[in-house]
Amino acid sequence: MNGTKEALLVAMEVYFNGDIRRIEHARQVTEYAEQLRQKEGGDYLVVAGAAVLHDIGIHQAEKKYGSSSGKYQEIEGPPIARQILTELGFAPGQIESICQIIAHHHSPGKITTRDFSLVYDADWLVNLEDEYDIGNQKRLNSVIDTVFLTQSGKTLAKEIYLEKT
Ligand SMILES: [Fe+2]
Repeated sequence: MNGTKEALLVAMEVYFNGDIRRIEHARQVTEYAEQLRQKEGGDYLVVAGAAVLHDIGIHQAEKKYGSSSGKYQEIEGPPIARQILTELGFAPGQIESICQIIAHHHSPGKITTRDFSLVYDADWLVNLEDEYDIGNQKRLNSVIDTVFLTQSGKTLAKEIYLEKT
């Protein structure tokens, strides 16, 4: 199992071809997704696959549309992920589930599986400080309650971003 996660990470790094920012982001999201999965349950390979590859369409989105916006990544990501996952020997059902998560990872509400929620929350755990003013702690508390889908995601976000009182 761990071997598969390592293989996913290697394939992601090869694909991102030295783009350290994207590589580090994917690694961080994967680490959080794994932490959340240990608390909430979920399918190890689907969560790992979707977390490692969730932004894999970003280069293609930039190339094709001149934009890294979420909706273009959601379109461009799945075919690239499908190819990587097929090469790594993932089962068709797992590939479908992973691609579904990647295709909606900026659009909550369409996919309601636990595996989706874990990857979605893991991405937010990394992105929160870029999207919101973490200095406004009171507001941040309610932002966390609104944005995160799982209880473990909310709890971990508060541990990371809210000062202890
Ligand atoms: Fe991301």
